[in-house]
Amino acid sequence: MNDHSLFSPFKLNNFTLKNRIGVAPMTRMSSPGDSIPRQDVLEFLVRRAENGAAIVYTEAIVTDYESAQGYPKQARLITQRQIDSWKPVVEAIRNEGAVSIMQMFHCGRMAWPEINPANRVIAPSPISPRQKNPLTGEPYPVPDEMSAFDIEHVITGFVETAKGAIAAGFDGIEIHGAHGYLINNFLSSYSNRRTDEYGGSVENRYRFAHEIVQAVRQVVPTNRLLTFRVSNWGVADMDVSLCADKMEWQQIIKMLSKEPIDAISVSTYDYSAHAFGTGQNMGQITRESTDLPIMICGKIYDRATAEDALRNADIILSAKSILLNPNWIDDIRESKELPLYKSDEANVAYTDEPLP
Ligand SMILES: Cc1cc2nc3c(=O)[nH]c(=O)nc-3n(C[C@H](O)[C@H](O)[C@H](O)COP(=O)(O)O)c2cc1C
Repeated sequence: MNDHSLFSPFKLNNFTLKNRIGVAPMTRMSSPGDSIPRQDVLEFLVRRAENGAAIVYTEAIVTDYESAQGYPKQARLITQRQIDSWKPVVEAIRNEGAVSIMQMFHCGRMAWPEINPANRVIAPSPISPRQKNPLTGEPYPVPDEMSAFDIEHVITGFVETAKGAIAAGFDGIEIHGAHGYLINNFLSSYSNRRTDEYGGSVENRYRFAHEIVQAVRQVVPTNRLLTFRVSNWGVADMDVSLCADKMEWQQIIKMLSKEPIDAISVSTYDYSAHAFGTGQNMGQITRESTDLPIMICGKIYDRATAEDALRNADIILSAKSILLNPNWIDDIRESKELPLYKSDEANVAYTDEPLP
């Protein structure tokens, strides 16, 4: 990979990205009662566009007021006030020549009932994470098994949130199917033990994701982006991977590739780590089974890792480096020596402290 590639344009649907670098979605827990992020959190995103990011993702926005929320003070995008709060952010990102993408999710079995007005946790099957909720120190509650009504209702939440993002002017929408949240709960044979058409085979476990993508695409015009994020790890029970083997992962990627989406975002802990006992990393394994553009992230922290990750992907995303270094893209451009930040250093994201 030469210098030219990382800073070369890339065509994503009808958008021409000015380079291959994006700001990964980052939850900030900064939206109090009105589910609107603090002003400094919104400005943080604009500054990353000013620094030269080609794509700026929002934090994961929760899709309903009933059971979607897993962390305190998360954002929503379904009321006019919420929509209006994002409009200037989207416009400012566009003025910097960057593409804005709203990421949305439902926390599924990782939800926290006390902060959801319906006081309910729902998931494909009544299987709670084995570990305790790190935020409360308490066990996660056993989820209610989702009924057909619940499934339809949750899909409506994704659709309404996508509509909110379109009304706010976002260039794209991302469906968050990664990290052990609801869509991931359906995909995983560990958390999905259903015996109906949503459980059992990989095709059946994929059905919920398929229905969400199809329903959301109806409200996302073809000239806007729709991306899907997937990972083989979750924030709880990390020892339980989504897929048992490479073949299962590739089956999911192949099914996703048939969807009307514009890119697959593969979230890894370490882009270079070999996966499924093979000598290949997730980028390589994913590339083998799709022609769709691939975004990759995980321990990309300097120019060498960015260029190396780009060998098996089209776009690289950074979370921690971009969070903690407002000049990261300039520093990459100048091939500066840069640190690999640790996870606990990123906890500053969840404080009231404005970040530069
Ligand atoms: C503070 C913080 C918040 C995050 N929030 C989200 C999120 O809302 N949605 C998501 O898909 N990933 C989220 N992630 C995961 C990152 O997008 C990324 O996949 C992960 O941090 C690995 O990339 P990195 O090594 O560049 O940090 C978050 C990460 C951090 C550090």
